[in-house]
Amino acid sequence: MRVAGAGGYSATFVTLQTLGLMPLAVSAAPKLQLAPGAGKGIKVVVLGAGIAGLVSAYEMGKAGFQCTVLEARDRPGGRVWTVRGGDIVDSIGEARQIASFAGGNYFNAGAARIPSIHKTILGYCKDLGIALEVEINSSRSTLLVNDRDFGGKPVEQRQAINDTRGHVSELLAKCVTRGALDQELNGEDRERMLGFLRAYGDLTSGLVYEGSERAGFARQPRAGFDAGELRPPLDLHTLLDARFWNAMLFEEGLDYQATMFQPVGGMDRIPYAFAKKLGRVVQYGSPVKEIRKTANGVRVIYSQRRDDKAIEADYCICALPAPILHSIPNDFAPRIRRAVAATVYADNYKIAWESKRFWETDFNIYGGISWLSSGPVGLVWYPSGGLFSETGVVLSGYGPEGTTEFGSLPAMEAKLNASRAAVGRLHSGYDQHLRNPIYVSWGKIPYNQGSWVRGFSHPDGNEGDYYDGPYREFIEPDDRIYFVGDHCSHINAWMEGAVLSAHRALEMMGERVRAEGRARAAN
Ligand code: PHE
Repeated sequence: MRVAGAGGYSATFVTLQTLGLMPLAVSAAPKLQLAPGAGKGIKVVVLGAGIAGLVSAYEMGKAGFQCTVLEARDRPGGRVWTVRGGDIVDSIGEARQIASFAGGNYFNAGAARIPSIHKTILGYCKDLGIALEVEINSSRSTLLVNDRDFGGKPVEQRQAINDTRGHVSELLAKCVTRGALDQELNGEDRERMLGFLRAYGDLTSGLVYEGSERAGFARQPRAGFDAGELRPPLDLHTLLDARFWNAMLFEEGLDYQATMFQPVGGMDRIPYAFAKKLGRVVQYGSPVKEIRKTANGVRVIYSQRRDDKAIEADYCICALPAPILHSIPNDFAPRIRRAVAATVYADNYKIAWESKRFWETDFNIYGGISWLSSGPVGLVWYPSGGLFSETGVVLSGYGPEGTTEFGSLPAMEAKLNASRAAVGRLHSGYDQHLRNPIYVSWGKIPYNQGSWVRGFSHPDGNEGDYYDGPYREFIEPDDRIYFVGDHCSHINAWMEGAVLSAHRALEMMGERVRAEGRARAAN
């Protein structure tokens, strides 16, 4: 009552929540607490205008810090990169590509989906007025294929999933009825278990799996006397051989569960919205040349339109990826230099094609991912935006290059051929519709040279867990330099991780600014 007297309704509400007397919304995004005016008179240089750098500058701007963001490219976003018609893709050691997609068609070459549990980035989308739509990450109509099984013919996920479930349920029911589980289940639970299996596997009353409507029809029911015809179930032996499990279970991964989201029109709507708020704070075409420490701050040398320039600041927020930091002369502490050198990045690629939407019109596929368990290209990912329109951009190939079968293909040409062939194996004859391919391989993209952190090179020559090594260094500031980015979070390779790393760094820095202010006032 005293809290209510002093602070009114909202203070009471928050107090009761804190005391555990009122439910706390699990969905609430933790808000960064930087007091307005906290950064007055403090200069900060932010390196890199990816999500972590942009969020840092946006929040610091609101708190009165004087920020400059140095961005090597002519666009914001880093790996949040949407390629549209006319865009140029330059890669190290590859010929220049120019996208020729029709208006409205786009390819999210980096970030392409947002889990609903990533509340902080979704909160920014709401604040910035970015329209979101569902990113359809899985669909029962998508296909699974393994060259050596089912005559190399693709099966629909609804078949593989429901026929597998039916067979497993029948087997388990046999165990129960033959008494093999009498030790584990009492009489009552045995009956309940059989009831569950009948429902779970769509078994007959005799506990046999004879196929299920869930797996789809060979011939759809129609009006009149045509009740349609069920598909015969896929046989268990071949299903076991095909090992579709990873593909079938992909949508169960917490980060991949429905409902996922994407901005309408391309993922780069997010960085561009931040960049618009920041205006001239972001300096494009400004690659960092040196990162130096001064007595009470930092000095960063960068180039801009071929001129070398220097900027001094009280703090530095460094949002550059490790492979890039590695080649920038710096005054980092030895522990950070070692962390930078030891961090190993993955080199994932994506290939996208423009096409008429045959997957929708002829295969009943609206979004989701088809999987190939043999061959160099493992998946085909259908667009979630622009459903029912004439053309769209379909992804064929997303994975590491490294020492994989795909990575060892001789040249871009061979990689594009493999990508096209993967579509052909899933959708026989339809690969002829694919045109205007774009290949983005993050290991070869300037200013990234890697897709995300994969591990760290352990002194013994093995690859270790990044979180046991370099991570521990990056999350502690080096004098007045704070490291941010998804690699400074436990949500590696997601925008949410980049955002949360920025929040954490700003909280630490804000605390320090406050403490130094107090010390100065006391002197
Ligand atoms: N976020 C990436 C995607 O959506 C996948 C990823 C997650 C990669 C975690 C590495 C680590 O495809």
